[in-house]
Amino acid sequence: MKDLIARLPKAELHLHIEGSFEPGLLFEIARRNRVALPYDTIEELRNAYKFLNLQEFLDIYYQGMKALLEEEDYFDLTRAYLDRCAADNVTHVEIFFDPQGHTGRGVPFEVVVKGILAGLEDGERRHGITWRLIMSFLRHLSEEDGFATLKEAEPWLDRFTGVGLDSSESGNPPMKFARLFARCRAMGLLLCCHAGEEGPPDYVREALEIGIDRIDHGNRALEDPELVREIVRRGLTLTVCPLSNTALGVIERMAESPVGRMLEAGLSVTVNSDDPAYFGGYMNANFEAVAAGLGLSEGDIVQLARNSFTGSFLPEAEKARRCAAVEAARMG
Ligand code: HPA
Ligand code: ZN
Repeated sequence: MKDLIARLPKAELHLHIEGSFEPGLLFEIARRNRVALPYDTIEELRNAYKFLNLQEFLDIYYQGMKALLEEEDYFDLTRAYLDRCAADNVTHVEIFFDPQGHTGRGVPFEVVVKGILAGLEDGERRHGITWRLIMSFLRHLSEEDGFATLKEAEPWLDRFTGVGLDSSESGNPPMKFARLFARCRAMGLLLCCHAGEEGPPDYVREALEIGIDRIDHGNRALEDPELVREIVRRGLTLTVCPLSNTALGVIERMAESPVGRMLEAGLSVTVNSDDPAYFGGYMNANFEAVAAGLGLSEGDIVQLARNSFTGSFLPEAEKARRCAAVEAARMG
């Protein structure tokens, strides 16, 4: 199984670039930027990565980001992530970044975007990894703040495939951003939305009403059979994050991962790493953990790899080529 997982080409569709900030690199960049950390050693920092829920994680995630100040920092962060992708045979990535987590601290929007784009282009050159960049809005902030960020993003919009919605879910439903998402849609951007990670099935329903193109997490949609049927009917892909779910207490153990029930329901489910530096594993580790926890078959694993490409924002012809590559690799 481990062999098959490693051998298959895969796309990662749910990854926050700031969540790939490994403690070693975090210390290195904090030192060169003279940013003080509340931890003396990498070990101490790692020990702080114990979370009871999403908010406890987010507090540490935003704290870690504070080390990032210069274009070079964003480049190094992205480059390190793509090196890990290459090691896991991830051949296509669609990554989120949180501009408000940086501009809110005084880092100019263009510093963030230039560094990430340079990192993505470097990874494409060195590893042949193709990519899409998705600008994510922080849902604990106001819709007005989101509109201001969209304005700042205007010169860069042709470099972004879509927008997302992340951060503290409870109390911040998708409808809070209905006008912002309508504007983004009108500008030709695709729409993603974290929903049903901690929030209720109604938040997933709202995301559908807003007209989203892909659901991030979506775990709790399973509580509502009618909603599941609607997601199947629309052919929407869900980006599930197994190690994130156990790390944040969204599920108690891997045997409860929604990946199994979603496969059974005929949903287009994918496996992703979310914030791998914080949750203990990149793509293959997530596949291995969920395969072991649920007792998935080799056929299930191949299906998940295929879904990662059919659920991507690649053009249809390219999706077909990538699926053919999955089939070829399956045979070994
Ligand atoms: N959920 C919500 N917001 C996030 C996450 C997540 O898993 N990771 C980074 N921001
Ligand atoms: Zn996420």
